[in-house]
Amino acid sequence: MNQPKPIAILAAGAVIGVTLLAGCQSPNQQKWLSFFFDGVPKPASGTATATNRTAVATGPTTVSTTVAVQPAKGPVWIEHKPYMQNDCMACHKSQFSVEMKGPMKEVCFDCHNKFLPVPKYTHQPFADGECKSCHDPHYSTNKFLLVKTAKMLCADCHDPVVAAPKSIHVPYQDGECLSCHDPHASTNKSLVLKTGKSLCFDCHDDFLAKAKYKHDPADNGDCVSCHNPHASENKSLLTKDAQKLCFDCHEEKDIAAAKGHANMGKALCLDCHDPHVGADKNLLKPAPSMAKLPPH
Ligand code: HEC
Ligand code: HEC
Ligand code: HEC
Ligand code: HEC
Ligand code: HEC
Ligand code: HEC
Ligand code: HEC
Ligand code: HEC
Ligand code: HEC
Repeated sequence: MNQPKPIAILAAGAVIGVTLLAGCQSPNQQKWLSFFFDGVPKPASGTATATNRTAVATGPTTVSTTVAVQPAKGPVWIEHKPYMQNDCMACHKSQFSVEMKGPMKEVCFDCHNKFLPVPKYTHQPFADGECKSCHDPHYSTNKFLLVKTAKMLCADCHDPVVAAPKSIHVPYQDGECLSCHDPHASTNKSLVLKTGKSLCFDCHDDFLAKAKYKHDPADNGDCVSCHNPHASENKSLLTKDAQKLCFDCHEEKDIAAAKGHANMGKALCLDCHDPHVGADKNLLKPAPSMAKLPPH
């Protein structure tokens, strides 16, 4: 539908929009009023008072009354540059329409072309041009014009973080999803910022760098074959109980055949082996920990 809407309908819409925000930000109200109804005076300049306008629709004409109020102390508004510069038509169809001048992504990418070409893996709301579900196009009190703080944002659509009985990853628990994920798109699966071990070693000491012998899956950066990056029912964020985990990749008959396993009794794999690195090719833990083995 590309016909301009009757001005009266637009005016009513704008008034509702303005009234909803009444009391929050008089400069913004002024902006909206002067955009849609030419001739609204600039808000009182100076810092001692702010101006709170109430717009009342009276048929085809609109009256705006002015009330002086103290400036509200509170969160800092961050305005989107084109909005701040009154460049409303960078996004809107015309001075008389709140409709976008084109599909959302096209409008935004006109200026934000760093997203082009769009990487292989996209976050669904980004791909669908639902920028608005995360960003306010005009202004916000949150960084990056987010509609909520980054910590709260993801839980709008994803399961909220609940503590797992055995282990929960600290950055996940703290809502720091963005330390691992890109909110828009990525060349990596699952929208991770980096692949494999480099993602993990952003925060953890690189225990592989200096090791003589390395467990293949760790060395290959397949950390998530053993660890859930978020939370787990097992200790150490393990994807399975430690004892069962080894048999995901090792054959029971091979384990049984190994010389070192002749008399292992009830000892657990991790009693003798390190899951990541070792001083010998069998990734054996230093002797003292083997000496502490339960009798068998
Ligand atoms: C960066 C793009 C952009 C700029 C610049 C912009 N807007 Fe918007 N505006 C939007 C988007 C996106 C929406 C939501 C549209 C939708 O839901 O389809 C919107 C909606 C609105 C609405 C409807 C109420 C609401 O908040 O949903 C009004 C009124 C409005 N804008 C006024 C303005 C005015 C006045 C200016 C200039 C001072 C302006 N806009 C500048 C993107 C922009
Ligand atoms: C007319 C050009 C223009 C259009 C169209 C535009 N933006 Fe922007 N946007 C800017 C500029 C300029 C900045 C400030 C960049 C800077 O400071 O580095 C900005 C900054 C941003 C920021 C970051 C704010 C911050 O605090 O760093 C976000 C998020 C953003 N825009 C989202 C959008 C979305 C969503 C749309 C589409 C609805 C859009 N922009 C359309 C020009 C535009
Ligand atoms: C799922 C939520 C979400 C959606 C959907 C989304 N964004 Fe963002 N966006 C974010 C978050 C979170 C940040 C802050 C990124 C950070 O901290 O690194 C951000 C940052 C930005 C920035 C500023 C930083 C930068 O990378 O340049 C721009 C511009 C931006 N988004 C534009 C858009 C546009 C355009 C769309 C729609 C096509 C969009 N975003 C959709 C969550 C979202
Ligand atoms: C507006 C709703 C919405 C918000 C907000 C949102 N997501 Fe999503 N996200 C989706 C949808 C829809 C999918 C695709 C369906 C699915 O896999 O559940 C998805 C999928 C994902 C995926 C999997 C992508 C893949 O390719 O496997 C990741 C990772 C993700 N989101 C992270 C985040 C993070 C981090 C945030 C907060 C910055 C966030 N999401 C906020 C809707 C949202
Ligand atoms: C320490 C890094 C890290 C943090 C922090 C993190 N993730 Fe992830 N996330 C990953 C990795 C790695 C994968 C891919 C797992 C795989 O391939 O098995 C993933 C996968 C996902 C997926 C897709 C698969 C699934 O489990 O549904 C979603 C959705 C997701 N993350 C959302 C989130 C949200 C929301 C947060 C914040 C509450 C978050 N992530 C925090 C690393 C992280
Ligand atoms: C943003 C920082 C960050 C990133 C990225 C990160 N971690 Fe962590 N991780 C932590 C913090 C903080 C802790 C808790 C303190 C500690 O044990 O060092 C932790 C703890 C752990 C634990 C012990 C959990 C427990 O309950 O004992 C494991 C296992 C772990 N991380 C694995 C990983 C893996 C695998 C990756 C990559 C997919 C990764 N981490 C990426 C910050 C991070
Ligand atoms: C073969 C499975 C496996 C792989 C692959 C693996 N881990 Fe582990 N990881 C474990 C086990 C098992 C533990 C628990 C060790 C224990 O309790 O003695 C552990 C413990 C940890 C811990 C907790 C710190 C500590 O020493 O208690 C961190 C951090 C960790 N792993 C990070 C990683 C990273 C990063 C990678 C990828 C480079 C990785 N792991 C690959 C099995 C694995
Ligand atoms: C994701 C698959 C995977 C998991 C899970 C796994 N391993 Fe391995 N492991 C390998 C691969 C691959 C090798 C190297 C190839 C080989 O010799 O089998 C290896 C080698 C080893 C070696 C050294 C043997 C040699 O000849 O180099 C030991 C010891 C070992 N694993 C112990 C364990 C223990 C203990 C666990 C459980 C905590 C475990 N593995 C879990 C894949 C895995
Ligand atoms: C009592 C200590 C001990 C326990 C418990 C133990 N191992 Fe070993 N493992 C050894 C020793 C010693 C060697 C090296 C001697 C050898 O070559 O047979 C070895 C060798 C291995 C090898 C490499 C040998 C081969 O087959 O090529 C793998 C893989 C392995 N162990 C996996 C496991 C798994 C999985 C478990 C748990 C089910 C486990 N180990 C429990 C002591 C132990």
